[in-house]
Amino acid sequence: MDHAVRFAGPGSLMSTDIGHRDLRRAAAGTLTGNWTGTATLPSRTQYPHQWSWDSAFIAIGLAQVSQERAQHELLSLLGAQWGDGRLPHIVYNDRADEAYFPGPGFWASRRVPGAPEVSTSGIVQPPVHARAALTVFTQATDEAGALRFLTEAYPRLAAQHRYLRQDRDLDGGGLACIVHPWESGMDNSPAWDPFLAGLDLSQPFVREDLHHVPAAERPSDADYSAYVALAENYRDLGYDDGRLFAKHPFTVEDPLFNAILLDGELCLAEIARLLGRDPEPHRAAAYAIHRALLARLWDEDLGTFVARDARTGECATAVTVAGFVPLLDPWLPAAVRRRLIDLLVSPAFLGGCRYPVPTYDLRSRDFEPHRYWRGPAWVNTNWLVWIGTLRAGRPDVARTVRAATLELIQRSGFREYFDPLDGSGRGAHDFSWSAALTLNMLAAGDGPGHAAVPLPAPGRPVGYPRS
Ligand code: SER
Repeated sequence: MDHAVRFAGPGSLMSTDIGHRDLRRAAAGTLTGNWTGTATLPSRTQYPHQWSWDSAFIAIGLAQVSQERAQHELLSLLGAQWGDGRLPHIVYNDRADEAYFPGPGFWASRRVPGAPEVSTSGIVQPPVHARAALTVFTQATDEAGALRFLTEAYPRLAAQHRYLRQDRDLDGGGLACIVHPWESGMDNSPAWDPFLAGLDLSQPFVREDLHHVPAAERPSDADYSAYVALAENYRDLGYDDGRLFAKHPFTVEDPLFNAILLDGELCLAEIARLLGRDPEPHRAAAYAIHRALLARLWDEDLGTFVARDARTGECATAVTVAGFVPLLDPWLPAAVRRRLIDLLVSPAFLGGCRYPVPTYDLRSRDFEPHRYWRGPAWVNTNWLVWIGTLRAGRPDVARTVRAATLELIQRSGFREYFDPLDGSGRGAHDFSWSAALTLNMLAAGDGPGHAAVPLPAPGRPVGYPRS
């Protein structure tokens, strides 16, 4: 089914109600085309299972189409949670076993005590789910039904966050580590290059991802070798995070992942308040992440947040879109916020291309406009930057990011990612989160303060400085 939006040309219809109505209808059609009855596939061809952060973005868009499906999307994913609280990055669909590598046999999740009946991967993805649950709630017309949904989701979301804040804080420094590039959601980001050097890359495997998308738009074979080696190592350690620090070569603190965790804790605080529970522990957790983010990942020379190897303390030097996601932090010092916005609007990102936001500094020698997370613009990272700029009190920049995102969709349809220089679509077609987040951006309009984009008040947690 092809739901790609075909309009006359850039800028032609976006400013009219008719343009928005057509775009909404096409986005809703894409989500319906990818719905399995229990969840939404990111893409019928390229990603034929349920993905974790995809489902969160998808639920945010589904809230505009069907509350029932939006709630179901999140609850079906949360139903695959492991006993230790981890929310797996893939929940396998038995009917598509062979169509994707690595499949369920690779992870062997069902042999792990505490793993669910359904086959899953053993790694996680950025925790956008608390924000998704809150956004589904704020879009509901049946408040009592939506409160029942929150009541069911809350303990699972709290367990997911507890797992990340405790089990994944491998050195006790206050940030969650990712233990695989797939956990970042930005698989082949240049930020991981220094941390992947020196891995044993001898394992044989057969890629399935090149049947529908050209090799030049996907991670390289060397990247895939590293992905397989790291996943096998984690699996062979029994997915035991307590053994990782000594025995696993990839333990990285990522600004995008941790800023989303911080934002998620503030969303959980709001959910707790709505349910008559104590929000303060969540606010205190968010504030602790704020402090660690600034202390560990802020690079004063580069003027952005960077990834850090938790074992060696080595920081990446790649300037990527992940560095802007801490704009979601409501306590960011004004000077840090200013530096981030200056970099965002500079020729390195918004100011240097016709179709922003590139995922990697445009001035980098190894910038690649077509290759997955090494340059292309993605709707989900644009959406995170958009909310970050709203949170940072910069509706002017937010307007630019939103308009650029809608223009990309208008020009090239719901593609997986886009060349930021010419706006051409790349990767999978009919990609679910591109459709879902378009629905959210259309619902929110230009200004902050809309129910489609909840920005929970930070409050004053215990231990919060009185400054
Ligand atoms: N994004 C990955 C892929 O390309 C998996 O999480 O298959």
